[in-house]
Amino acid sequence: MKVLVVGGGGREHAIVWKLSQSPRISKLYCAPGNGGIASLAQCVDIEATDIEGILNFAIEQEIDLTVVAPDDPLAMGLVDKLQGKGLRAFGPTQKAAIIESSKVFSKELMKKYRIPTPEYQSFQKYDDAIAFLDKISFPVVIKADGLALGKGVIIATSREEAEKALADMLLENKFGEAGKRVLIEEFITGPEVSILAFTDGESYIPMVSSQDHKRAYDKDEGPNTGGMGAFSPSPHYTPEVAEYVEKNIIEPSIQAMAEEGRAFQGVLYFGLMLTSSGPKVLEYNARFGDPETQVVLPRLKTDLLEIMEAIIDKKLDEIDIQWDERAAVCVVLASEGYPGSYEKGVPIEIKEENDQTFLFHAGTRKTEQGYVTNGGRVLGITALGNDMEDAVESVYHNIESVYFEGMHYRKDIGKKAVAVEMLKFTPK
Ligand code: GLY
Repeated sequence: MKVLVVGGGGREHAIVWKLSQSPRISKLYCAPGNGGIASLAQCVDIEATDIEGILNFAIEQEIDLTVVAPDDPLAMGLVDKLQGKGLRAFGPTQKAAIIESSKVFSKELMKKYRIPTPEYQSFQKYDDAIAFLDKISFPVVIKADGLALGKGVIIATSREEAEKALADMLLENKFGEAGKRVLIEEFITGPEVSILAFTDGESYIPMVSSQDHKRAYDKDEGPNTGGMGAFSPSPHYTPEVAEYVEKNIIEPSIQAMAEEGRAFQGVLYFGLMLTSSGPKVLEYNARFGDPETQVVLPRLKTDLLEIMEAIIDKKLDEIDIQWDERAAVCVVLASEGYPGSYEKGVPIEIKEENDQTFLFHAGTRKTEQGYVTNGGRVLGITALGNDMEDAVESVYHNIESVYFEGMHYRKDIGKKAVAVEMLKFTPK
């Protein structure tokens, strides 16, 4: 089989790595890929958002399966276009991907189907949004409706900050189309957990739990990033919590999408907050999360191709998915200056790769002299361990084998999974 993976970050490296183990795949391509992916797949110089370019490549090369990993091409309808040409594609259609591409849609869906989520109001007019600020207390969360490269969520701790965020979105157009509608959402607290679920639109199988780290610096301080690391499993996601989440969140969400004529086939991501009144949905993503995929897929024992094909054929209920019991921790190594501006082309020294860790490339490029940096998040290093403490020790020990000038990373990834105070909740 010839398989094409669309995308070029750490998540796509993890997907390509996992698919490369499938005995039924004879040729793997990745568009555009990156320096590390190039050792497992043939990288083709087509951007993930070049819908026509990818479509033409898939037709010309007679690709048997295209896996669409990032949010933008899903929201642009790449899966629909491929299917329209009679090609097999993994990922939700544009109608289903709206669960991520419009936050207003997802909040209305949750309200209609009584799926627990923070209270909210949506606005298109600046004056209406400002008037609403008179009725609420701070902090509040201001969200742009559309996809905004992970920058569209602002926690406003004061009225001034809220007014600025609303002006940026609704008056100044700083978020483009994505900010033409906004949500003002209740601020809630508690441990965050990411649950990714395979679903064929009817059946679903949740993956092992994980947790992302969005802030740039230790102790969750500093600016937001695309994700500085992840661990799996979350100690908070006990069997009791999992049962509650499946019954009250995962199952009703998948049924709601089917009832709305938007059956979701692919990976549905639930960004949850475990509050004292029960788990609530902060966000849905219509795809594998990043960097969560870099800790979840190393724990997957089953052939990913078999799962993807079962989803496309609506036969997920015939699949038995096995997981490695070990814990996984991924630490992202970032360029100097990230998440602000940073240089590209800095040489990367990889002293040794070993079989204890996975080195997933995110922003790298291969040159004749070796790898160089090509993005803000450069590499994700993942280690497995018999328990979380073991995985944390192993990942930090192995970081010593990688170096590039200005490299920075968080020193506390996984540590909140080692010493935890368990939350008790009483669902309302
Ligand atoms: N880790 C969150 C995301 O993939 O958007």
